[in-house]
Amino acid sequence: MNKQAYQFSYDVYDSVNDLNEQDAWLVNEAREVTADAYAPYSNFNVGAVAKMASGEIVAGTNQENASYPVGLCAERVLLSSAATLYPNIAIDTIAISYHNMNGESKHPISPCGMCRQSLAEYEERVKQPIRLILSGMEGKVFIIEKANSLLPLSFGSVDLK
Ligand code: THU
Repeated sequence: MNKQAYQFSYDVYDSVNDLNEQDAWLVNEAREVTADAYAPYSNFNVGAVAKMASGEIVAGTNQENASYPVGLCAERVLLSSAATLYPNIAIDTIAISYHNMNGESKHPISPCGMCRQSLAEYEERVKQPIRLILSGMEGKVFIIEKANSLLPLSFGSVDLK
């Protein structure tokens, strides 16, 4: 038997004001786009905005459904749009924010397990890591250099060979 270790680190900023201009802009776009979420059941509006490697900007918001499991997270809405509008183009960075209509929106959220799986596949597909910038409507901001670091020992296409 031997023990394997997994190490993960990320950058923590006190506020969006401490980011460089480009990252701060993307975070503010993600905050703004939360207004377009369709989340009448959870009242938890999520916005995600991507900067493509080619410079284009793509946004996604969570889209819920009266049949709850049908709902989609902002991240997967964004990835589907990006892959459709700009096929085979890498995503440099995604900023993710949320507006909790029933509470506070001060602490960064990070993608759910299903979205982590989708993000990891996107990275693999275009052979480039996706940088994630996580925040709420205010407060601390986390930056993670590679989305797949959120999914150690992940299942992927190589396992199907
Ligand atoms: N949600 C997202 O859109 N992204 C996340 O990273 C976490 C959760 C959505 C799903 C659902 O519409 C609402 O937030 C509450 O879970």
